[in-house]
Amino acid sequence: MKQAAKGNSLNRVDGALKVTGAAKYFADHQVPGMQYGVLVCSTISSGTIKSIDAVKALKAPGVTAVVSHLNTPPVPGFKQDYRGLKIFNDDRIYANGQPIAIVVADTLERATYGASLVSVTYNQETHQTDISKNIGKAYPPNNDKGYLRGEADAWKNAAVNISATYTIPLEVHNPMELAGIIAHWTSADTLTLYAKTQGVKNVQGTLSKVFQLPPNNFTVHSQFVGGAFGMGLRVWPLEIAAILAARKVQKPVKLVISRNQMFTMAGYRPYSIQELNIGATEDGKLVGITHKATANTSAYETFTEGIVAMTKFMYACPNVNTQYQVVPLNIGTPIWMRGPGEATGSFALESAIDELAYKLKLDPLELRIRNHADIDPEHNRPFSSKYLKEAYQTGAEKIGWYQRNPAPKSMTEDGMLVGYGVSSGTFGAYRSGATVMATLTPEGLVLKSAASDIGPGTGTAMVQIAANATGLPTGRIKFMLGESAYPNAPQQGGSATVSTVGSAVSDACKALMNELGKMAIKDHPSFKQATIEELQHGNGQLSVANKAGSAVTYAQLLKDLNLPEVSVTTTSQAGENAKKYSMYAFSVHFAKIHVHPLTGVVRIKQVVSVADAGTIVSMKTARSQMIGGVTGGIGMALMEEGLIDHRFGRYVNNNYADYHVPVNADTPPIDVYFVDKPDPVINPMGAKGMGEIALIGFAAAVSNAVYHATGKRIRELPITPDKIL
Ligand code: MOS
Repeated sequence: MKQAAKGNSLNRVDGALKVTGAAKYFADHQVPGMQYGVLVCSTISSGTIKSIDAVKALKAPGVTAVVSHLNTPPVPGFKQDYRGLKIFNDDRIYANGQPIAIVVADTLERATYGASLVSVTYNQETHQTDISKNIGKAYPPNNDKGYLRGEADAWKNAAVNISATYTIPLEVHNPMELAGIIAHWTSADTLTLYAKTQGVKNVQGTLSKVFQLPPNNFTVHSQFVGGAFGMGLRVWPLEIAAILAARKVQKPVKLVISRNQMFTMAGYRPYSIQELNIGATEDGKLVGITHKATANTSAYETFTEGIVAMTKFMYACPNVNTQYQVVPLNIGTPIWMRGPGEATGSFALESAIDELAYKLKLDPLELRIRNHADIDPEHNRPFSSKYLKEAYQTGAEKIGWYQRNPAPKSMTEDGMLVGYGVSSGTFGAYRSGATVMATLTPEGLVLKSAASDIGPGTGTAMVQIAANATGLPTGRIKFMLGESAYPNAPQQGGSATVSTVGSAVSDACKALMNELGKMAIKDHPSFKQATIEELQHGNGQLSVANKAGSAVTYAQLLKDLNLPEVSVTTTSQAGENAKKYSMYAFSVHFAKIHVHPLTGVVRIKQVVSVADAGTIVSMKTARSQMIGGVTGGIGMALMEEGLIDHRFGRYVNNNYADYHVPVNADTPPIDVYFVDKPDPVINPMGAKGMGEIALIGFAAAVSNAVYHATGKRIRELPITPDKIL
């Protein structure tokens, strides 16, 4: 087990660019002749637009256009089966804050003023934004029949059982960087974009469908992203609005939405209501679990995620049934957010396990260990690797789990109630296909792939993987990403980038070294007698095994061979072997908290998080990722809640002052440990993903600690003082 210390691996390769302001985020780009767009948004939550009066706006200084459904030619891809809001397509309003027009002007200030002059009238209809009042409209998405293993509702017949309902409010991603785009039609059918996205190829593909043009007509730049948390996993109507505006004014248009607009048009974690029923024998063997989850979607689109996914395989339990359904509401469509549905589901499952443990008078960690799934019970096949028990043990030791008094409300410190809580997390260890171009020049190695780095340090990890594969010093390796012109890579989501793109980097580097070796054997006097198997790579040199003095630097080799560069392009996919295994990463979170006995304020005093994420390829950035995930978990547990005034269907806390996220003062020391053992199946590095497991489960560790501290079980996030008192 390795503790992730602060300074034991590569610094961020783009760290200096980011902290000096040299890194260009989408909105930092300037395009000659660029105009500015400002959105006009619906002030009702359901109905139709009766009229849009743009006369005053169009007379305002600098305003060049007011674009809406009244003056947009039909978008060719907005057909019957189009998935998403068809922006400026018709007069229908589905949600408050829905963009209904965009005002374009020569400066941001003039566009903002122009937007204030547009007046809109509506035919208002009744709206629904409260999930609890609309449960009757719930439907199983995509004809989801639910999951059943063994007998349904077997928990009822167990010696000991618990039934509980957990709710999580709508939460909004709230990265520092707002959503938006710069759209520049460089000809009637070619478009250059500076985007905020988790995947440049995804933007290309989506717009290709929307505008019915070949993908290569869209050039997408997105080198730096200022946080996303899932918000950048799709193209939103706001981006299409800017593209339509740019076409209208025949000039590049920049759109950066405001913080309050971010709440209504760029996704969020949906509201959820989860019923958990668990039954066990008196000695703590699980008999049955029933998990029913209901979450909201929008009135125009069905969004689904893995809220009940973890329940199916986390514990060895013979009888499990799950059901997932969605309720349409007059709010924009949700999107995956931070650990997505699995984080939502883990709060319910891991709180319920804690409740059951107390009812059984059993240590919550011991209950988990007794029901550890040695093989995946959902698919009845082995895990590719699983070191969760080791993670439990390390975490328990480091937080002092066994030294606590487990009785609720039994511990105090400095006049505060003290609570300890534990929870586990898991997420699929995914790997899809990616392509990398690797080019060796006398200066070093350049790798290109259309990957993204939304903050975890992808470039840094890729440089480390390439250094391991080539023996070149990290300072001579460059990883270039965020360009649609680069070879294909999936978007950054679902903790899959190191596994997917890293594999392609590793394979491309090996192919490049092989290619270089073959050329050396063919044409270089020092290697003529050697076979490819005898060649060795290391320290930026090629040498023959066991032959002293045979080493030639790559730079010298290229010079001797009279080659300016050697380049290979390699595509890498998961192997067939992977299908025989269930691949998941696992984590365990321990939280020690203080609860103020009079005010109910919760302070998190210490966190120990242990991850089984396979080999850790970049220790420092991985540690930061875990800390970031836990910090998001603190927000989920204690603060974050998008509040809608249901009378109007409108947000009341759509800003950073009222929507609380954790700041440094809310964040205690977070000790991160990694099992750091390679997964033998998933990829050449043995690395499983870790972005999601950094957060999944964390909120339950806090609510379980609150129970330990106070004897009160809080089943509704966020855990604010009013709920504790
Ligand atoms: Mo994420 S929620 O995989 O960006």
